[in-house]
Amino acid sequence: MPKLIIVSNRLPVKVKKGSKGLQYEQSSGGLATGLKSFYKSYDSIWIGWPGLPVEELEDSKKNIKEKLNDEFNCEPLFLTRYEIENYYLGYSNKTIWPLCHYFTQFVNYDKKLWQVYKKVNQKFANKIAEFADEDDIVWVHDYHLMLLPKLIREKIKNISIGYFHHIPFPSYEIFRLLPSRIELMEGLMGANLVGFHTYDYMRHFQSSAQRLLGYESQLGRIDYEDRTVKVDSFPMGIDFDKFSNASKDSEVKNEINILKKKMMNQRVVLSIDRLDYTKGILQRLKAYNIFLRNNPQCKEKIKFIVVTAPSREEVEQYNQLKERTERLVSQINGEHGVLGWMPIWYLHKTFNFKNLVALYNISDIYVVTPLRDGMNLMAKEYLAARNDKKGVLILSEMAGAYKELGETFIVNPNNISSIVDSLEKAMDLSDDKKEEINSIMRERLKRYNVVRWAEDFFQKLNKMRELEQKRESNLLTEDIQNKIINDYKKSQKRLILIDYDGAFTPYCEGEIVEPSQDTIDTLENLTQDERNEFVIFSQAERSEMDKCFRNLDTNFVADQGAYLKRKNQDWEKLDMFDTEWKSDLLPVFELFVDRTPGSTLIEKEFSIIWDYSDASFDLGELRARELINELMGVTGNMDLQILEKENRIELRASGLSKEHAALRWLANEKWDFVLAVSDGLAGKTFYDHLPEKSYSIKIGKPETKSKYYVKSPEVIIDFLKKLI
Ligand code: G6P
Repeated sequence: MPKLIIVSNRLPVKVKKGSKGLQYEQSSGGLATGLKSFYKSYDSIWIGWPGLPVEELEDSKKNIKEKLNDEFNCEPLFLTRYEIENYYLGYSNKTIWPLCHYFTQFVNYDKKLWQVYKKVNQKFANKIAEFADEDDIVWVHDYHLMLLPKLIREKIKNISIGYFHHIPFPSYEIFRLLPSRIELMEGLMGANLVGFHTYDYMRHFQSSAQRLLGYESQLGRIDYEDRTVKVDSFPMGIDFDKFSNASKDSEVKNEINILKKKMMNQRVVLSIDRLDYTKGILQRLKAYNIFLRNNPQCKEKIKFIVVTAPSREEVEQYNQLKERTERLVSQINGEHGVLGWMPIWYLHKTFNFKNLVALYNISDIYVVTPLRDGMNLMAKEYLAARNDKKGVLILSEMAGAYKELGETFIVNPNNISSIVDSLEKAMDLSDDKKEEINSIMRERLKRYNVVRWAEDFFQKLNKMRELEQKRESNLLTEDIQNKIINDYKKSQKRLILIDYDGAFTPYCEGEIVEPSQDTIDTLENLTQDERNEFVIFSQAERSEMDKCFRNLDTNFVADQGAYLKRKNQDWEKLDMFDTEWKSDLLPVFELFVDRTPGSTLIEKEFSIIWDYSDASFDLGELRARELINELMGVTGNMDLQILEKENRIELRASGLSKEHAALRWLANEKWDFVLAVSDGLAGKTFYDHLPEKSYSIKIGKPETKSKYYVKSPEVIIDFLKKLI
């Protein structure tokens, strides 16, 4: 049975040192709940940090490991104080966190943090390798471990890896600020599936993959090296039933009654967050201050309960925020408070699940106004916990959750008056209206709960796994090679068609790479066999082909298929291609070069090519569409074809194709063995014209009509040598 290995910075169980020794506190986080069912169906383990520096646990490491292994299916990865400081508090929370949340002014670019981040990611990879095999599935969570997918793949080539990014993925313009941007992107590309909460984050990631790594995405698929990386959005859900059922619990009911009494019929506004500068806590307080100024009649009739959970306190900006929050709270209390009434209750502590649900249930309005937030599950929890559907949610449009909760009050957290306005409107909202909008959102949250979310991710990951397995089955293995060699040996009339560009050397558009001596020797040997007819075809010019294959006496196609050279003969031009159109249409191409910085024009004997691979991607794509439109307009009644491939638009005489020129040899004889080798970049139809019994091999990505594929040209040379 394959194993499922979950990896996250923190384990779902926190080890704490109390007066009674070690304590194990299970987190109430949704992730663990979402994964419960998978945990049972696989042999599973969760790898992560138990939450304390190893220096404090030295004597008890063995006990902790045993307890976590036996009772929680968890494997601890111990971190030193130095690692916590530089990897967790450092690169994760002083560099990636502020960057991904658009707080560029807080980003720390210290190289040391990056070095330690790399080392700790490697430490995670080493730990995973102790448990995992090729058939297993690893699911990596969050920004602390962005290098991990690649590091795991380096150790276990064919393993299935999923990665989920729980925070925003910023626009390319922000992400490119990082000196280590390429390494982070390459790290994530080690995964088979990369998931985000929203389509926008996914879009940003794809744009970075395109601009930083040069890999384009098509319908969320990126062909990266010899694999496909799928990118998709999966809005994380919550354990709806747990929150919805909680208010029926007698302890919670009791707590609700106590709190209600304390509130003495005041209207309650509530906010709960980790104390983090991304959460917009100050903006929210400022809005409440203005609300009180504008609505003096509300004084003594309203209470704002502000809960901030301590978080990452060793990071400077968190500490500063704490001071600023406390100052603002006391200012507001000072300005509006009267004897016996304070407008704000400020609590800087962590509440347990039951307290939390009770707080949710006594509030009239819940304000969630982050400046940026990957998702914000608490907004969802609030709605789920309110079975009476009487609470009103005010939600920031900068939280990922906004995409699913559009029915409620949506605010731009930087527009303080919009928060004030929403507070005023929410106060006056009728119970019927509250019920109406909350019912719709609750239904949605119930349906796409955390289990569905995990299932959805998992299903997609499995699909990617199947795809990779299928690919492996088309790979030109030793067995298949032997079968082809066997047929080759038995045959007397063999046709071997070889696409020079990409089959013998890595494909290099516009340039010809000379074949190695080894390749020439192999070909010389094979072409001397009288039973063999070779055709080597290329987009290159005749003179270049002559230079590359000086002493080789065989058949060639050059100039994209406009010229043929039969054995022992001179180059012969296929006279059907006219070139007069070129002078008329060249100015159109020149105009596009001028309008698109970075793009170039390549003029060939029978074609004109506009290459925008070095232009800015979006502009290039836009201009490409415009050029195609323009060319279609002016070439309508001319015998020309427009080709689009790999950041190039090519206009050429119709019918001009090196593949089709090579296929002319098919009709020359009754061949009893046909082998075609191509990188398949041009003309997938090439394979359609081959006789059914022929063998076709493609170099590079496997998704074409060829029967088999190999990952690099070297394999082809080695294979051809075996035919000798
Ligand atoms: C965010 C991150 C989580 C992280 C949590 C708490 O929600 O996405 O990965 O665990 O904050 O932060 P902490 O630094 O305490 O782990």
